Amino acid sequence: MAPDPETMRRLGYRAVDHLVARWAGLEEDRPWQTASAAETRALLHTEPPEEGTGSDGVEALMDEAVQRIFPLAGRIDHPRFLGFVPSAPSWPSVLADILVAGHNVFQGTWLESAGPSQVELTVLDWLRRWLGMPEGASGVLTSGGSAANLLAVVTAREVAGWPSEPVMYVSDQGHNSLRKAGRIAGLRRHQIRIIPTGPDRLLRPDRVRDALAADRAAGRTPILICANGGATNTGTVDPLEALAELSRAEGVRLHVDAAYGGFAILTTRGAGALAGLGQADSVTLDPHKWFFQSYECGCLMVRDPAELETAMRVSAEYLQDTETRDGEVNFGDRSLQLTRSFRALKIWLSVHALGRRAMARAIDGAMELAERTEAWIRDNSELELLHPAALSVVCFRYRPRDSAGREWSEEALEALNTRIQDHLLEDGHAMVSSTRLAGRYSLRFCILNPRTRWRHLVSILEEIVARGREIAETSGGTA
Ligand SMILES: Cc1ncc(COP(=O)(O)O)c(C=O)c1O
Repeated sequence: MAPDPETMRRLGYRAVDHLVARWAGLEEDRPWQTASAAETRALLHTEPPEEGTGSDGVEALMDEAVQRIFPLAGRIDHPRFLGFVPSAPSWPSVLADILVAGHNVFQGTWLESAGPSQVELTVLDWLRRWLGMPEGASGVLTSGGSAANLLAVVTAREVAGWPSEPVMYVSDQGHNSLRKAGRIAGLRRHQIRIIPTGPDRLLRPDRVRDALAADRAAGRTPILICANGGATNTGTVDPLEALAELSRAEGVRLHVDAAYGGFAILTTRGAGALAGLGQADSVTLDPHKWFFQSYECGCLMVRDPAELETAMRVSAEYLQDTETRDGEVNFGDRSLQLTRSFRALKIWLSVHALGRRAMARAIDGAMELAERTEAWIRDNSELELLHPAALSVVCFRYRPRDSAGREWSEEALEALNTRIQDHLLEDGHAMVSSTRLAGRYSLRFCILNPRTRWRHLVSILEEIVARGREIAETSGGTA
């Protein structure tokens, strides 16, 4: 379990050497590689060994993990990985993870982690100020945005007094974790009201107001309006100020899921888009998305932490020694988890090492790249912009120039763009994922990695056009 110090050092340095080699060679590597379950089983499945290798075998085992296991995964922090929502942790964040793993802090109670709990309180206070939430607001670091959204729903139900027919409101652009949170909280399908959006993909306050009135008339109790602070699909930010006003007027809590987009508030560009974020009752943030933290690091911020604690605290005899005094927080009382790790250290170390300003500049750089991408697409007659740059997401597709007078059906365009996407993945040039906008298949760039440069984006866009042209010429559309 614990070899002699010299061996520990040798093995530890080996692990760090692997990480440094990976980071240094990232750009030359593929952004993504996968395998079928049959292939991975043949390659990696083993029986559990009765006897271990001992310390002498650990280097070879680590080498095997690096050579055979890690390659069959996305390099989420690769400069040409633009799929889903990437993540590009800073080196200080990784170092903090190493330190935390080695110290194995239990951060469920103040009694067992006063220092780390203070650091979490401090980091939460930084986030509070950045979001523009009032003094006294605080929160909890979570495994990710899904856990944070669940805490928001459970808190809303508690604050509403556990009505028999609670209803939450989510736009059709809301993240699926919100619907999942409703389901876990025991809401049935008709109690998770999906509000349709128009071509701008925004949650309209008048539609929410109508839905609230209809539910009240039917004897149901609205408990939570969920807005997007950067929708995963398109990056759009709902009209937060108007929704905050509506929530106050109607007496219904407002939650903003800003898991992807929230940290854009650190920039001038993003602060405009996210105006009103600080007025929400609760906000989900994911530092492991656009704040340069390694997995897993999410966050729920709440205007009144006492409400979150009322929702989440469950006392037990064997925890009687953990009673808190003034100002102390048992983070287990704000969390799904009692045993929880010291996630705050990575944010603390990153912000101290890099500074808020550099982190904000990196976020702004990504938004600028998204705007340039949109302009490039608009200028290219073979690309069709399906949704303009919002925060750092751009949606578009290849659409052949109609020189031969041929019509391309939606199905043919989908087949063509699917083939382009497959090509990018197989070729290893880029990881680009797709989505659907009003039924139309769309390629989607999500740009948030400071390693991503304009030259990477141009090379991917040019590849899409070249490949699209080639496939279109050989397939001939639906003429
Ligand atoms: C807007 C939004 N909310 C919630 C989530 C879920 O967060 P996590 O995957 O960290 O649980 C995501 C993930 O992409 C997201 O984009």
